[in-house]
Amino acid sequence: MNILLLGAGGREHALAWKIRQSPKTTQLFIAPGNAGTAREGTNVPLKADDFAAVRDFVLSNQIDMLVVGPEDPLVKGIYDYFREDTALAHIPVIGPSKKGAQLEGSKDFAKAFMQRHAIPTARYKSITAENVEEGYAFLESLPSPYVLKADGLAAGKGVLIINDLATAKKELGDMLGGMFGEASRTVVIEEFLDGIECSVFVLTDGEHYKVLPVAKDYKRIGEGDTGLNTGGMGAVSPVPFADKAFMAKVDERIIRPTIEGLQSEGIVYKGFIFLGLIKVKGEPVVIEYNCRMGDPETEAVMLRLRSDLLDLFEGVAEGNLHLRTLETDPRTTVTVMLVSGGYPEAYEKSKVISGLDKVPPTSIVFHAGTKAEGGQILTAGGRVLAISSYGQDKAEALAQSYTAAKAIAFDKKYYRKDIGFDL
Ligand code: AMP
Ligand code: GLY
Repeated sequence: MNILLLGAGGREHALAWKIRQSPKTTQLFIAPGNAGTAREGTNVPLKADDFAAVRDFVLSNQIDMLVVGPEDPLVKGIYDYFREDTALAHIPVIGPSKKGAQLEGSKDFAKAFMQRHAIPTARYKSITAENVEEGYAFLESLPSPYVLKADGLAAGKGVLIINDLATAKKELGDMLGGMFGEASRTVVIEEFLDGIECSVFVLTDGEHYKVLPVAKDYKRIGEGDTGLNTGGMGAVSPVPFADKAFMAKVDERIIRPTIEGLQSEGIVYKGFIFLGLIKVKGEPVVIEYNCRMGDPETEAVMLRLRSDLLDLFEGVAEGNLHLRTLETDPRTTVTVMLVSGGYPEAYEKSKVISGLDKVPPTSIVFHAGTKAEGGQILTAGGRVLAISSYGQDKAEALAQSYTAAKAIAFDKKYYRKDIGFDL
């Protein structure tokens, strides 16, 4: 099969790495990709949300399957775009329909969906400029801290957690006034949940599903989970607290009602569902849905997937995922993200990366924000490289990734030295 994978980050490099290992892969194209994905296939200078350009490329290169990495093209409806075009309609898209992608694209939609299907999630109220007084009253009824979420996509920045009531009211007003543009014209106010989080990834053909290895990501820039939120500083899989008993509850109370809810509402969903869960007093509660894989979780999870990812994708496309196998590697895997100094605030780009050839073969370096130029690899983003390793346990896997992290150099390199500290 000829595959076109959309996206440009560490998640896409890890997906490309895995797809390339499949005997079913003939040619793999990544659009736009990065210096790392160029090792796994052919980068194509296309924007993932330029559907017309994607269409032209797919038709002129006999693409047999489109795999969508990031949420943007999904929320903008690339699945439906393919289904509605007679020349593209036969080509499977791994990713949900536009309506299905609303599980991530609209927090208001996701919360109402969970309410309709009795899926455990934090109590909430959706607020717009019209009912802001109700928002203030709801905030007054809640204990501190207060959780405010922009309804729409806000590049991971749309959630505010505020300790003080007066500030929460002011921020609610600012959000509704356009703090995150259109994304915060509706704001979801939520009850704060106290617990430990994990990421559960489900692959579904709309009827059957498989659960991938569970991971935990580390979002804050500073050690001990302090400082600003980032796109993710590292990940660990498996997650010891997501044990058999916990996952049985997740399956019964969350995954099954989600798949059945989508089906009963006629929402087409053929792709990944990412459940951001929190364990509260032993019970799983949904913090959020995403319509794609997580980053940097994918960079740890793909290492634990023994089965052929394309075989699973074929199962998704053909609606027979239950006939495919998903076998996992029992070892622990970790990812440590090397970032540009200053990230997630202002940082410099185009720094020369050296030492990639000194990384021991026990680690796999996925590129997140890199570009190849004049025979060198340069930094091209805040998150630069995701160093993934195996181990018999977390400590062994981390030791490998940290050895590699030291071997690689670029100006103002930074990484967290405590990934997995809370497990
Ligand atoms: P989200 O974009 O919904 O995943 O929110 C980003 C992060 O904010 C989550 O990963 C949590 O750490 C935190 N968060 C979101 N909602 C809640 C909540 N109701 N209670 C506590 N923390 C939350
Ligand atoms: N690691 C969280 C995310 O991908 O949204």
